[in-house]
Amino acid sequence: MLHRYIKCCILMLFLGGWAAAFSSPQDFGDRPQARHVSQEDIEAGKIPVPELLKAGEKLFSTEFNRLDGLNPRNGNFNRIIGPDTQSCADCHFRPFVGAAGPNIANVFAAPLDDTRLDTSNPRNTNHMFGSGAVESLGIEMTQELLALERQAKAEAKTSGKDVTVALTTKGVNFGSLTAHADGSTDKVKVVGVDLNLVIKPFSRKGIVRTIRQFSINANNLHFGMQAVELIGDFIDGDDDGVVNELTVGDITAETAWQALLPTPVQVMPADPKQAELVRRGEALFAQAACTTCHIPTLTLKRPVFRLPNPRVNTGKELTLDLTTQAKEPRLARNADGTATVALYADLKRHEMGPELAEANVQTGVAPSVFITVPLWGVGSTAPWLHDGRATTLHDAIVLHGGEAELSRKAYQAFSDRDQRAVVEFLKSLQLVQK
Ligand code: HEC
Ligand code: HEC
Repeated sequence: MLHRYIKCCILMLFLGGWAAAFSSPQDFGDRPQARHVSQEDIEAGKIPVPELLKAGEKLFSTEFNRLDGLNPRNGNFNRIIGPDTQSCADCHFRPFVGAAGPNIANVFAAPLDDTRLDTSNPRNTNHMFGSGAVESLGIEMTQELLALERQAKAEAKTSGKDVTVALTTKGVNFGSLTAHADGSTDKVKVVGVDLNLVIKPFSRKGIVRTIRQFSINANNLHFGMQAVELIGDFIDGDDDGVVNELTVGDITAETAWQALLPTPVQVMPADPKQAELVRRGEALFAQAACTTCHIPTLTLKRPVFRLPNPRVNTGKELTLDLTTQAKEPRLARNADGTATVALYADLKRHEMGPELAEANVQTGVAPSVFITVPLWGVGSTAPWLHDGRATTLHDAIVLHGGEAELSRKAYQAFSDRDQRAVVEFLKSLQLVQK
């Protein structure tokens, strides 16, 4: 043992001396902080998945500095439009890195005028636990909706008559569409999704399709760290003297890490009386029809996370298995190869009433419309609602209006004890990390 220890010390001394002898002037003093990842190495299988995830976690927590390309040239901190921080983990850290954030980490989203707060929508930081399954569910739902549209068009063409189909996928209804014999379609009755039927599960408005796309934008907006897939290789888009600020491999690693974060789970209290309250709360949650939007489970047909390569025609796609390669706790594979995702959401946008309406339309989505926020993990992510205004779960519930009005009223009609049981159930939906 001692022998091994001495050998190890000698090796370290040797390596240290070697490094000192060969280090260039750039190796000391202020240094760029990012450890870059090569997409070519990922594709060549030179980086095993656990290493890739570690690299992604590192990038997510890296405090970028000017030498990395942080901020545009002369870019002053301006909380309204950003740059506003140095690392993703500056905001997404509660209760773990990759999770949610307190109100100090709120963002002023999509300002129309970057000098005026009232032209932006305040946003509280949400968590990315289990997000690989969320993205994959969205893709499967989109494919099913598009297949329904194609089928209706084909039937209308052959029959020469109008064909109306209900746009239902995974038990969630997005209204209906009518295909005409001349090949055109009438989509006035499509609800809760864009007219192109593409589900966008991310952001509170449901306007972003993938974690990758969100991450590229977040790096640019929060830090002025520009991915080559945003602006091109060797292009200094923000005039700060640094090119290739984030490689394709960097974004792949950061995306993979977020997608494969642990799946939120229900944690039952050890005390049988408390556990009974949670079960009662769960039944009341269904009784008040909270489950019409916060659907307890959705089935993912193929529990994988696909990372298509952004380099069209050259790159290889990476496919990660959510039931074996994600961090634990992770999804379990059912006997038929599917996985049950306890999301408590429907990936659909809803009209939530005047109480929750905000000042501005965002990317075409009306001020009072939000995507159902998944309640998995909700017990660990105070404060709640899109702008973090609710500091108790009860407050978050009673602010529901619009399409959720009847459901809220049903909750308000419960006895105080029953309302507390609903909250107790929500508290049992937690983010955990092994
Ligand atoms: C200044 C705080 C802040 C920083 C820094 C930040 N985020 Fe976020 N993040 C947010 C907020 C707020 C939201 C909610 C945005 C919305 O709803 O439109 C969010 C949402 C997200 C989402 C979507 C989650 C969902 O379920 O809708 C992803 C993915 C994400 N961030 C990734 C990142 C990455 C990657 C970085 C670093 C490059 C990062 N964020 C840096 C505050 C931050
Ligand atoms: C019509 C669909 C709908 C119904 C019904 C509904 N909700 Fe929601 N819920 C939403 C949407 C959309 C949000 C996001 C609103 C926002 O951020 O402003 C939300 C947010 C929440 C939040 C805050 C979560 C967070 O992370 O910020 C809680 C808690 C919640 N709902 C619980 C309930 C309970 C309990 C019921 C039943 C009494 C219920 N909801 C019924 C759509 C619905």
